[in-house]
Amino acid sequence: MNYPPSVRLVEVGPRDGLQNEPQPVPAAVKIELVHRLQDSGLREIEVTSYVSPKWVPQMADNHQVMSGIQRRDGVRYSVLTPNLKGFEAALADRPDEIVVFGAASEAFSQKNINCGIAESIARFAPVVQAALDAGIAVRGAMSCTVGCPYEGEIAPERVEMLAGLMKAIGVQRVDVADTIGVGTPLKVQRAIEATLKHYELDQVSGHFHDTYGQALSNTLAALQLGVWNFQSSVAGLGGCPYAKGATGNVATEDLVYLLHGMGIATGIDLDALVDAGAYISTALGRPTNSRVARALLARRG
Ligand code: HMG
Ligand code: MG
Repeated sequence: MNYPPSVRLVEVGPRDGLQNEPQPVPAAVKIELVHRLQDSGLREIEVTSYVSPKWVPQMADNHQVMSGIQRRDGVRYSVLTPNLKGFEAALADRPDEIVVFGAASEAFSQKNINCGIAESIARFAPVVQAALDAGIAVRGAMSCTVGCPYEGEIAPERVEMLAGLMKAIGVQRVDVADTIGVGTPLKVQRAIEATLKHYELDQVSGHFHDTYGQALSNTLAALQLGVWNFQSSVAGLGGCPYAKGATGNVATEDLVYLLHGMGIATGIDLDALVDAGAYISTALGRPTNSRVARALLARRG
């Protein structure tokens, strides 16, 4: 089995991780988290989202957070923008990449962004064009690529269709997301293969929530297909407010431990990452969801 020699991680903790927190997390804490994440060697960080504050109150401080972070050369800072209003607000804060987010499930699209799949693509198209014109990279998140909280199992054909729509409007790379963490390795491989009908391997990343404890297995299955881009959340924070019961992404600490154990380079200092996870867990007042962080913190004593 040929595994990729190195993997690039997009840390989504400050966005996906925190968006679901019921209590407001101060912008200063979010900024400090981003600083600690970049100090650990992470080179891509999804910082916030420019969505309606009525829909996701926790992200209402997007401007404060984006303008408060001390940027480091070589780090890519990305933000979610569902429409032109969000993009225009984001533009003032100069993200390196914007993310439009669609779904392979009609029902989830409706619940999450208040429109169906076709309408979402029509809304994304001018956002993508405006970003490319401004020299900003464009990623597309594809939710519910194996299962949907409202529609159940999702066929790979629907993922293929969504990937084709994303490609047609100029989205440069896409995330194959298991939003509610129901996927198992072979199903996740089918979703990735469907995406590969439209995108190159280098343009596809895995975004696996760990609700059913399958995210590391799903990552391994994706690696076996040659995928080398993954998204994860420090301390395993997170969930989507419009996917009830879905828990956080695979913990970045757990993913890094897996990859380093397989001799796959990430450029990340696991000890510094564990410190970043401990920082945010303490700020939120609860133990980390990362098994690796728990083990390493216990060993430190
Ligand atoms: P809508 O209600 O259809 O929008 O929401 P609208 O255009 O009719 O506008 C309604 C109001 O929202 C207006 O304000 C607009 O100004 C305002 P009002 O006149 O009522 O005071 N508005 C905005 N405000 C700030 N920023 C904006 C914006 N757009 C409109 N960009 C909308 C449509 C997309 C805005 C809404 O549904 C929304 O904000 N949804 C966000 C959902 C979300 O953030 N979900 C979590 C992220 S996705 C995710 O977690 C999945 C992912 O991790 C991958 C995976 O795991 O699957 C990425
Ligand atoms: Mg997610």
